[in-house]
Amino acid sequence: MTLQAKARIDAALKVTGQVKYPSDAAVKNPVYAYFVTSAVAKGRIKSINTDQAKRVDGFIDILTHENTKGEIKTQVGYPGFTNQTVETDEIQHDGQIVGMVVAESYEAAREAAHKVQIQYEAQYAAPGFDADGITIRSVEGFDANFKAPRKGDAAKAYEQAPVKIEAVYETPTQHHNAMELHSTICEWQDGKLTIHEASQFVYRRAYLADCLGIDEKDVRVLSRFAGGSFGSKVSCTVRAVLAAIAARRLNRPVKLVATRSQAFTVTTYRAETRHAIKLGATKDGKLDAYIHDSFELTSRPSNYNLAGGIKTASSFYNYGNVATSVSVVNADRNMPGWMRSPHELVYMFGLECALDELAYALNLDPIELRRRNDTQVDPISGLPYSSRSLMQCFDAASAAFGWANRNPTPKSMRDGDWLVGLGCASACYPANIGASSAGIEMNADGRVKVQIAFQEVGQGGSTVIAQTTAEKLGVPLENVSVELGDTNLPPGTITAGSNGTATTLSALLDACEKLRERIATAAVDAKKGLFSGAKQDALHFTTGGLTGRAGTESLAVAVGRLGGTARVIGQFARPDAPANAVRDLGRGIPLFGGHRAKDFVAFSHGAQFVEVRVHARTGEIRVPRVVGAFAAGKIINDVMARSQLMGGMIWGIGGTLHEATEMDRRAARYVNTNFADYMIPVNADIKDVQVLLVPEVETRLNAVGAKGVGELGSIGVNSAIANAVFHATGRRIRKLPIRLEDLV
Ligand code: MOS
Repeated sequence: MTLQAKARIDAALKVTGQVKYPSDAAVKNPVYAYFVTSAVAKGRIKSINTDQAKRVDGFIDILTHENTKGEIKTQVGYPGFTNQTVETDEIQHDGQIVGMVVAESYEAAREAAHKVQIQYEAQYAAPGFDADGITIRSVEGFDANFKAPRKGDAAKAYEQAPVKIEAVYETPTQHHNAMELHSTICEWQDGKLTIHEASQFVYRRAYLADCLGIDEKDVRVLSRFAGGSFGSKVSCTVRAVLAAIAARRLNRPVKLVATRSQAFTVTTYRAETRHAIKLGATKDGKLDAYIHDSFELTSRPSNYNLAGGIKTASSFYNYGNVATSVSVVNADRNMPGWMRSPHELVYMFGLECALDELAYALNLDPIELRRRNDTQVDPISGLPYSSRSLMQCFDAASAAFGWANRNPTPKSMRDGDWLVGLGCASACYPANIGASSAGIEMNADGRVKVQIAFQEVGQGGSTVIAQTTAEKLGVPLENVSVELGDTNLPPGTITAGSNGTATTLSALLDACEKLRERIATAAVDAKKGLFSGAKQDALHFTTGGLTGRAGTESLAVAVGRLGGTARVIGQFARPDAPANAVRDLGRGIPLFGGHRAKDFVAFSHGAQFVEVRVHARTGEIRVPRVVGAFAAGKIINDVMARSQLMGGMIWGIGGTLHEATEMDRRAARYVNTNFADYMIPVNADIKDVQVLLVPEVETRLNAVGAKGVGELGSIGVNSAIANAVFHATGRRIRKLPIRLEDLV
């Protein structure tokens, strides 16, 4: 029986407002920084006039390309940067950082920033898909590591298929909008730099060190908590470099908080994608052709893409023949980046809607269509799924949802003025795993400290670490303290791609075993003592201390023997990792992926069921009910897992019905860059959200037996809603977000 923490170990701190987020760090005598951002999307800066800015009371300095030349050493080759900023006079996207004012107060910095007068030589900027001047490039053309999945002759199979559908699906521009703004505090002391910045990978300090031309060991990054990250805080960025340069020049701490509006252009985001999909099937619903050509928007200089999504999609059903392609579309936009479930969310949307369309063409229940094409083997690689409980998820969710009561005829279910629609879709996410170390210190009084440079971003990482430590070492949960988010600690994995629990706990298990061995060895080596001369591997931790056949020795005695404290560092790297994976972590190189191993592929799975109500006259769309069932190997903590999945499902609703960054295409500029105009769901939009955890035993992926859940919950909700909207109204909306103007 696993002991499970009932609440996050930091819950009390959070609900009482005691958590210190990075921008809350107390530094002595700080100056405040404020970005100046470009008012045009393409061109160059002709001149910068700072006369009026300098007259603002409290103004100290401004950094621009004119006075920082050569000071930023390098910038390319790392993910997470947002194009260029101040190295040259060139403008590559609207809202680009072109300067940073520092002043004695935030207000003075802001006022001065607004008084900087910049003259531009503006050029035409291509805003996105279908614009003049975009370039379209095949990912295979520039990425030798990427091969678009293909199998058999899909064109011919599609041609000959008795039942087929063809459609184009689109996902919009969206921005993370985490509650916590993007902030950085930089402080120098004796040539060493300390940075307080919310981060999903603190050891990415190597990037900052490179940019500043200093040794990475002279940089300390602290990120104890993050108020939401979701891919937007993956690494230290050029924003931190600017703050560090200003702090070095002034020899005072610099506090930088980008505004909500600036976050739309000075950080990454989810760019729009387009998917042309063809499915061909036999009359009894056996898929024989899957053709998927996708297009993803990105910036001019970047190759950023989500091509991994097509690999997931083409592994997902037993298709027969497959033909795919992925192209990036370069426009004059800021660089996109990871945003929760980045690859699968957009790629599975089209596929899961297309399956629903095919189910109608076949006059077959959509669950039955998925069942007939389910597979335990990746059809592209031929490798088995390590575990795959997709249909068990459908069975559990459909029963809880009451799918059997659905009349499949579109527009057939009605409740007064409301058209009722029921829809479903599959969810899946790669079971990633990487590398980590984990330090444990156990004291004779039974207190235990765990130290890992892993990141708590609200997911409950510190709680599952504490819970697992307590369980393995036989101490009460409250005896365990967990320190994370600090480059002074042993390197941990990147908090991304739902790899955190599996990776971190694997290293922790190694540390617990090393600790047991250390303490047990001392016990058997002792001249006098309960276990003197016994076998060390016969001893283990219990709630009373160290236990063997001869009885139990208290920690006071067993750890007391080691001078009162025992310290170990555990390590883990997945089997196919390079030899120095853990050391590489410490150099800012994360080990990421691993869901495609030598002899299996590993994914988490789920099934999403949604009820929508569309008002017959106004087109208003409501989602009174969502049921999701998920299978992700061993669930380490029910409360955290449910919370993660539920959060994902709620974001799924928002991402389908509310969220879209609108663009003024004439200026290549985002227009709704604030919380008032960027729609997100509020409590009134979210009703009944039910999470079911389907038991699943995973033995091949790792000793923990866990697959990730962080990103899984938000996948499939978009297609399930679109499918339910069709069922309610008979109208197939293939472009997100779905809004009432699509339905009146
Ligand atoms: Mo997650 S989008 O990999 O931070």
